Amino acid sequence: MKKNEILDAFLFRHACKEFDSTRNIAQDDFEFILETGRLSPSSFGFEPWHFLILQNKELLEKFIPFSWGAQRQFKTASHVIFTLVKKPFFMRHDSEYIQDFMRSVQKLPEDVVEMKSNFFRKFQESDFKLFESERAMTDWAAHQTYIPLANMMTAAAMIGIDSCPIEGFDREQFDAMLAGECNVDLDKYTIGHACALGYRKADPRGKTRQPITSITTWIS
Ligand SMILES: Cc1cc2nc3c(=O)[nH]c(=O)nc-3n(C[C@H](O)[C@H](O)[C@H](O)COP(=O)(O)O)c2cc1C
Repeated sequence: MKKNEILDAFLFRHACKEFDSTRNIAQDDFEFILETGRLSPSSFGFEPWHFLILQNKELLEKFIPFSWGAQRQFKTASHVIFTLVKKPFFMRHDSEYIQDFMRSVQKLPEDVVEMKSNFFRKFQESDFKLFESERAMTDWAAHQTYIPLANMMTAAAMIGIDSCPIEGFDREQFDAMLAGECNVDLDKYTIGHACALGYRKADPRGKTRQPITSITTWIS
């Protein structure tokens, strides 16, 4: 029964604090997880993300001193994904990236490119006021990166792989380490969040959530 299988995956998924460091995720399983990130939706379809995949424990250790939320996860995970957020360098409507994306990725004809560009400019300039600050546009891009994060964690859970979403870190120090150790250009990218993946070392405590009536209001 499909619905039960899906709900089972949601119950299986938890923020795993420590992984069994003797177990590695198979390459094809990891590629399956990444594929669900790749297929995720984004605003106007412009994919404001880039995924760095780390398995090198020595390198991950360097992030631990300022990543209070990842103390055991970075040490024990099989794979860690650092999701980089594309900054205005890429995401403003008139960037080379956006203009090229519509043609070479989305394969839009020229008249549609022009129409979409105009819509996107209005969206950025007046609907969402993303030019108010560099931060506004970067945050708008960052919000979207939680969609592939969620999809990848659910997909992982559906094949019995554990995960932990992580934003318990000092962003400035994280970015500085990314620049120094991973050649990340901070004019173009900033860290969004990390996601550690592997196999749980121990069973988690049970799930706690508010009842559905506390988080929903039906409007008729
Ligand atoms: C955006 C985000 C960031 C999070 N950051 C951390 C983190 O740094 N370290 C951690 O152990 N858990 C982190 N969590 C996990 C949450 O604490 C956890 O999802 C929540 O308490 C619910 O528990 P559950 O996921 O086990 O059901 C994060 C979750 C989200 C969605």
